[in-house]
Amino acid sequence: LPNDDEIDAILAQHKHREGPLLPMLHNLQARYGHIPAGAVARIAHVLNMTRAEVHGVVSFYHDFRELPAGRHVIKICRAEACQAVGGDVMAEETLAKLGLDWHGTTPNGALTVEPVYCLGLCACGPAAMVDGNVVGRLDAPRLERIVTEAGA
Ligand code: FES
Repeated sequence: LPNDDEIDAILAQHKHREGPLLPMLHNLQARYGHIPAGAVARIAHVLNMTRAEVHGVVSFYHDFRELPAGRHVIKICRAEACQAVGGDVMAEETLAKLGLDWHGTTPNGALTVEPVYCLGLCACGPAAMVDGNVVGRLDAPRLERIVTEAGA
């Protein structure tokens, strides 16, 4: 679990760089898988910013999570080629069924659903990435199976 001393040590590695905020956030995310709640205030203090400013940057970049991800992560391609073959519609239906928005995690912590913009599988879209493995030619039953297998 994140502890304050460790967070401070990470911040200290970057605070003298030019443009220290993003390197700090990337380092925290790499270490913890998300930006720990307490880190925002500590960064604000170190960089002489307001918490709202730091929080604004964290939420602007979708690479940063404010909460830990679910045990499984599905990234569904929302770029043009996959959209054209129904990927986006299928994704929206799945989100609606799960009661989630993009980047959301099911309440049982099983599955996080994220958008991704092209996985290089345009010829066999709709495409997705499930726990780091690419999946092509996704259709509704297959997506449903992925969701069920994830325990969502
Ligand atoms: Fe979806 Fe390229 S557009 S993989």
